[in-house]
Amino acid sequence: MSIWNHKHIIDLACFSLEDYRTVFDLTNKFKIIPISGSRKLPALQGKLIATLFFEPSTRTRSSFELAAKRLSADVQSFSPSTSSLKKGESPLDTVMTYVAMGANVLVIRHSCTGVAEQLAQTLDQKQKNVSILNGGDGLHSHPSQALLDLFTLAQFFNNENPSINDLVGKRITIIGDILHSRVARSNLWSLTACGANVVLCGPPTLLPDEFLDFVNNPPSGIVKDPIKNRGVISISRSLKEAMEDADAIYTLRIQKERMSENLLSSLDRYHDEYGITHESLKWCKQNVPVLHPGPVNRGIEMSGELLDDHSICLVDNQVANGIPVRMALLYLLASNKL
Ligand code: NCD
Repeated sequence: MSIWNHKHIIDLACFSLEDYRTVFDLTNKFKIIPISGSRKLPALQGKLIATLFFEPSTRTRSSFELAAKRLSADVQSFSPSTSSLKKGESPLDTVMTYVAMGANVLVIRHSCTGVAEQLAQTLDQKQKNVSILNGGDGLHSHPSQALLDLFTLAQFFNNENPSINDLVGKRITIIGDILHSRVARSNLWSLTACGANVVLCGPPTLLPDEFLDFVNNPPSGIVKDPIKNRGVISISRSLKEAMEDADAIYTLRIQKERMSENLLSSLDRYHDEYGITHESLKWCKQNVPVLHPGPVNRGIEMSGELLDDHSICLVDNQVANGIPVRMALLYLLASNKL
């Protein structure tokens, strides 16, 4: 097994190709363990994984908890609405409670950008031997989602033995509310690192031209990019054009809760212009899959019929792959055994 030298996983900007390969190798090993039944691996026996979700979640939190249990870790979760946050305890003091209980990994989700990173810095300053795994922070980053998306795409292109090489030269079109999407930002890092070219498509209010400037010229000093030859990112304002040469379509939820103002005149109009349906897929090549991180607004970013069409829509594969991918991430942070 190769060298893994990350104490925390905050975003994918610092991931090398070797890191992606390591995650894929472990995922391929873990995914053959049956989804149900009593078979568990003893790898994280005696470790404590705490899932601290300050923002709602269905699949990410459950997936991390199942992943931890499948590796025989103890799992402690927390629900903001029934916690001492209600009595005025600060989020940091809440987190420190789980550190004092001996947590080895804290999986944290928060609506504010930068919380996971700040927390990691604070814990490092306090010399605490605990890892932070970002389960989604504000608009910034959602690394485990992007890694499971990457794996699902690679598996679609090469079902036998998915590898990051399967992404080289592929054209992935991401459609929708890109401005508010931490999933899109993380996918941009992972897809381009593995040599895929990404086309972004959406209305100007949800995909301003400046977004591209930020992606192509990140503020200096912030990003130390370990990837030499990244895939190219471009913007297309025409859905037809964006779909025509795509090898896969990735559509995103309209994130009303993260919008500070009304950026769309009507959701029906959005669906007419950017919603993905069996009809609009006729612009694509044959057998192009559709992905979505969930939760889906049926009939807005994607038609209900398409969501239920498992011959095209890979949402269930994404959810299923989330477990072995997260097992890999928890194993890498908590096992100290590579
Ligand atoms: C995403 C999230 O919370 O960032 N969902 C997820 O984790 N599966 C995407 C979204 O909220 O639309």
